[in-house]
Amino acid sequence: MSLSHPVKPMDVKHAQGLDTRWRRWLQNPYNIFQPYIKEGMKVMDFGCGSGFATEDLLKLVGPTGKVSAVDCQREMLEITKRKVSAPNLNFIQYHAGKGVVSQEELGSYDLVIAFYVMHEVEELGKALADLRAALKPGGQLIMIEFSFDRRFESYLDTAITQGFHVRKGPRVFLSRTASLPVPEISPSFWQV
Ligand SMILES: C[S@@+](CC[C@H](N)C(=O)[O-])C[C@H]1O[C@@H](n2cnc3c(N)ncnc32)[C@H](O)[C@@H]1O
Repeated sequence: MSLSHPVKPMDVKHAQGLDTRWRRWLQNPYNIFQPYIKEGMKVMDFGCGSGFATEDLLKLVGPTGKVSAVDCQREMLEITKRKVSAPNLNFIQYHAGKGVVSQEELGSYDLVIAFYVMHEVEELGKALADLRAALKPGGQLIMIEFSFDRRFESYLDTAITQGFHVRKGPRVFLSRTASLPVPEISPSFWQV
């Protein structure tokens, strides 16, 4: 099932309001994602907006890792680009259903984070299918949404139809979260 929300991506003129000292104190991206990231990992900041989490993700993956900042709005990517640059950071403008990464990078990401993004994604089923295709078996998507978002369960249902499992996510102030692993292929699969 693919959900269709009557929503639009956040207006770029509100972008700076996403990255405030208060939010950084209450919802510190470094602390939230640290338990999920090891040095050398390949991580995607899906719906990066003005880059609230991007720099901390870079710190966590270290120089041997890689971060992709993805957004559907070129202007948001420009704001993030002005804020943070590194040789192991790339930027991708994405539209649902077109594939988020190149053919060569399918199945190569360890982690995708979607921090306050899913409520804006119009073609959620297609977007989740693209994210799943980008992740390796055993990789995971971390979904974080506002605690008052009543559609959170429906995002999870859509993720299940796209082959994700659903597990408990990190604790984040005023938010609902889930960790959505992509199942590893079981060894018994090959024994049939
Ligand atoms: C509320 S902002 C959150 C930004 C950032 N993750 C944060 O926590 O500050 C949501 C972002 O998701 C982006 N977005 C919305 N729909 C998208 C889609 N289908 N694909 C990629 N990005 C999308 C918007 O352009 C916007 O930058």
